[in-house]
Amino acid sequence: MSERWTPDSWRKKPVLQVPEYPDAKALADVEAQLATFPPLVFAGEARNLKKQLARVAAGEAFLLQGGDCAESFAEHGANNIRDFFRVFLQMAVVLTYAGALPVVKVGRIAGQFAKPRSSPTETRDGVELPSYRGDIINDVAFTPEARIPDPRRQLMAYRQSAATLNLLRAFASGGFANLGSVHQWMLGFVKDSQQSRRYKELADRISDALNFMRACGLNLESHPELRSTDFYTSHEALLLGYEQAFTRVDSTTGDWYATSGHMIWIGDRTRQLDHAHVEYFRGIKNPIGLKCGPSLKPDELIRLIDVLNPDNEPGRLTLINRFGADKVEAHLPQLVRAVQREGRVVVWSCDPMHGNTITSTSGYKTRPFDRVLSEVKAFFNVHAAEGTHAGGVHLEMTGQDVTECLGGARAITDEDLNDRYHTACDPRLNAEQSIDMAFLIAELLKQDRSGKIKPIPAVAGF
Ligand code: PEP
Ligand code: CO
Repeated sequence: MSERWTPDSWRKKPVLQVPEYPDAKALADVEAQLATFPPLVFAGEARNLKKQLARVAAGEAFLLQGGDCAESFAEHGANNIRDFFRVFLQMAVVLTYAGALPVVKVGRIAGQFAKPRSSPTETRDGVELPSYRGDIINDVAFTPEARIPDPRRQLMAYRQSAATLNLLRAFASGGFANLGSVHQWMLGFVKDSQQSRRYKELADRISDALNFMRACGLNLESHPELRSTDFYTSHEALLLGYEQAFTRVDSTTGDWYATSGHMIWIGDRTRQLDHAHVEYFRGIKNPIGLKCGPSLKPDELIRLIDVLNPDNEPGRLTLINRFGADKVEAHLPQLVRAVQREGRVVVWSCDPMHGNTITSTSGYKTRPFDRVLSEVKAFFNVHAAEGTHAGGVHLEMTGQDVTECLGGARAITDEDLNDRYHTACDPRLNAEQSIDMAFLIAELLKQDRSGKIKPIPAVAGF
């Protein structure tokens, strides 16, 4: 591990979950072309996110990370992006209000295309084909041709990421995210629900507070933090050839950055200490995430932290826990204690999705809302008991009215799953379930904060 790092030093290590491309020359051509394309993000933005995450680690902010399990070429469109962003802002406002804390907003978007799979093949009606690995690699259609990895898809993924990011930047700074528009973020189809009533009440209170400040003579127009928001992008950096092509030296510091997104993470299946993904991640300076599943042992975690954050830099490393609701108690306390004992600074975040996937009686891959919530609750409980900060959540969600996860306030049933089950990969919380979840997490955050009353830190944007 102490060998010299270069953007391609991962190529000398064993690598998992990266496909074999049939045409090596075509792949090399695409990678060479990508390396000439403009970066998607600027290193200074990644540093800002790292600073925000350092505040999360210190318990002065809360991390909200979420988006599709896998973005898709077929569903790329302005409405989809707008609906996602709108729900995400609503969730952030609910959490900000409840926790009286800044919420750091990170989308699983504008680059979340490559998927690790538990099995290399998929069998349907006796036919076995290579698994779908995300639109950046192959096609979801169940035919032999569609499942062949095609490097040209990486060019498509880059262009889609650029277009998505462009619109998100416009929304974040062009007026859409203005806190004065808090009522307009309500979605049509959630207008008559219990959550929309709760949300409207909260929006009314925020409007009242803004009006009050105006009446006191404050010129709100002169506060950019009320008119725009900081929004960051993230994805699992699984396809290392693509990532390498976007690994660039930041001219202002001389450091290497992944410029395919602000934050990238290592999946639970590819976090082996001596393998390619850990090797790649150790050399880039972005804030990074590490998924921590039930098989991760405390000493292994400490060795990974040694490699991934040797200088113990606050905000550099987010540990994204994904155990399953009934496994949190058995696994999280020992990891938290090891990290505390070694004096390591990390952000603890909870992914309550990936450990709670089941197959419904009707055969759909789904997640019961209650189990998802129960993992978040267990996560908060452990941190309260250990005296550490429950720093954030990591959700698979969409702004669309899909029926993929069971339950929630509108009680999606097994029979409902068949109606609008659109995901190409894992089941996502729909818009209503996402807002519902935000209110429930807000309760936990509020309880967590009570008793530890501190002055509200200066807010860097809502
Ligand atoms: C994911 O986040 O979509 C994922 C595959 O997660 P994990 O690596 O935790 O299984
Ligand atoms: Co997923």
